[in-house]
Amino acid sequence: MCGIYAQFGSFKLNDALECLKRLEYRGYDSFGISYNNNEIRKRVGRIKLFSEEENYDAIRAICHTRWATNGEVSLANAHPQMSSDGKVVLVHNGVLENEGIIKQTYFKNHEFKSSTDSEVIAELLAYFLRSSSPLKAILDVMDVIKGAYAILFMIKDDNNIYFMKNKSSLIIGYNQNSYFMASDIYALPHECSYYKHLTDKSYGRIGADVFLSDESRFLNFDFNYEFQTPNDVMIKEIYEEELLALKLKNNNNLFSNKTLELIRNASELIIIGSGSSFYAGEYISYMCEDILKKRARAFLPTELRNVDLYDNPIYLVISQSGETADLINAIDNVNKDRCILFTNRKNSSLGNMIKNVVDVLAGAELAVASTKSFNQTIIAAYMLFQNAMDIKEDEIGEYVEGLRKIKNNFEMKIPKLLAEMDKVFYIGQGYDYIISKEGALKLKEIAYIPTEGYSISELKHGSLALIDSRTTVIGLSSIKNYMLATLNEVKSRHGNIFYLESPYKGKYLGGLVLARYVQLISYYTAKEKGLDPDHPRNLAKSVTVI
Ligand code: AGP
Repeated sequence: MCGIYAQFGSFKLNDALECLKRLEYRGYDSFGISYNNNEIRKRVGRIKLFSEEENYDAIRAICHTRWATNGEVSLANAHPQMSSDGKVVLVHNGVLENEGIIKQTYFKNHEFKSSTDSEVIAELLAYFLRSSSPLKAILDVMDVIKGAYAILFMIKDDNNIYFMKNKSSLIIGYNQNSYFMASDIYALPHECSYYKHLTDKSYGRIGADVFLSDESRFLNFDFNYEFQTPNDVMIKEIYEEELLALKLKNNNNLFSNKTLELIRNASELIIIGSGSSFYAGEYISYMCEDILKKRARAFLPTELRNVDLYDNPIYLVISQSGETADLINAIDNVNKDRCILFTNRKNSSLGNMIKNVVDVLAGAELAVASTKSFNQTIIAAYMLFQNAMDIKEDEIGEYVEGLRKIKNNFEMKIPKLLAEMDKVFYIGQGYDYIISKEGALKLKEIAYIPTEGYSISELKHGSLALIDSRTTVIGLSSIKNYMLATLNEVKSRHGNIFYLESPYKGKYLGGLVLARYVQLISYYTAKEKGLDPDHPRNLAKSVTVI
């Protein structure tokens, strides 16, 4: 997925790039900007502002920060992409599903400069512009292209910025003398006054002569979103968890009556999420059975199947960003009135699709790794279930104390050893098993170490064959179990072992305290390896393409 931004009015190039920087969580392989009469500047790597002498005045600009989907990370593949006749410059978030057919049909002998699907769309626009007006050319292109897209483009010697979108988020905003467009609301500048999410299949132009096919109402933009430029932000976000948990605990209007009613009347719960949100979903499914005494199953979005076997399920949709394309796709034909969304961004695509929203109140999570939002999601669900069952006492206070104890006695010898390892296994049981799997994801995505999470005894059913002196097994325990026997079996095969006990043995949140260990281990191991934990290679904060 990528981030796109456009501005029309009177501004400096760096004003646009500052807004684009807020979309870096969507990808940071390369960036670029086209401005005024289709001048283009682009670079590989993270967004860098122009020097003062290059910080030119602009009246219109489109810009893009890229997460490579089609074509490797290179200057040629960086956006904006230009048509061969130089008429069209374009930035695109999405994936063109019928690129081959289009090339065959329209551009049989054409030499493309890049290996991106976006250049094909730029070429197609230029093709139709030879015989149509810009808006007619847009409609022709929308008839031809297949797939999710949000596209901004400019035409040489023309004073507007054009757009078209389908199933990839695009927001429009304005104030008395400027227009703005962005992949999501967080990139709109504070001086914006009104905004709205554009509907699918909408198109139009902003600039000298505004036209919007989507005539829905604009909303007041009262968004004072303070955005830090991330540097070493993951560790800060981990240590916000104590305060955030207490913020949730003390919030008395987290859940609507409708949400509580859905939970109380649910016969089954289907929980859906990707990555860390999937593991949060698995943890929540265990709590469904333990607290609500209801059947629950967690699914990856692409594995959601046979749900009509359940009678009238309630869907818990888990997504920090609210923009995960796999998830948006998966719930396309699910009854949205039977969905409850747990998200950190209620002003997101999923936040627009689902009315019953639980805001996990984690605040801006800028590091690619989900840490505080993972913990907050589980605590919010825990509170919802306790509330639904009218259970008054809760474990949040002890959970917070447990986090504080880990902060004070975290041992750095673990990351030092892991940095040398070929592979790592986390093992745990029950809720600790889910945290083992989440810990494995953290170590893979932040420290690039092959890692798996296993239920304790499962290690003996095959993976024990992998144990050698360059393997470390870390036991995670918040409950009484036979962990030590398994760790001894690893040690007798020359594997390295650690045993991490939760300082809090709570019934539901004791396991979640262990998340602090796995988050710190991934962070410090990455640092030990000289990596940037906030911006791991190949990844982006939210995966807005399938
Ligand atoms: C977690 O650390 C990863 N960044 C990733 O797995 C993430 O959890 C996943 O992409 C889901 O994102 P979402 O919660 O925004 O839907």
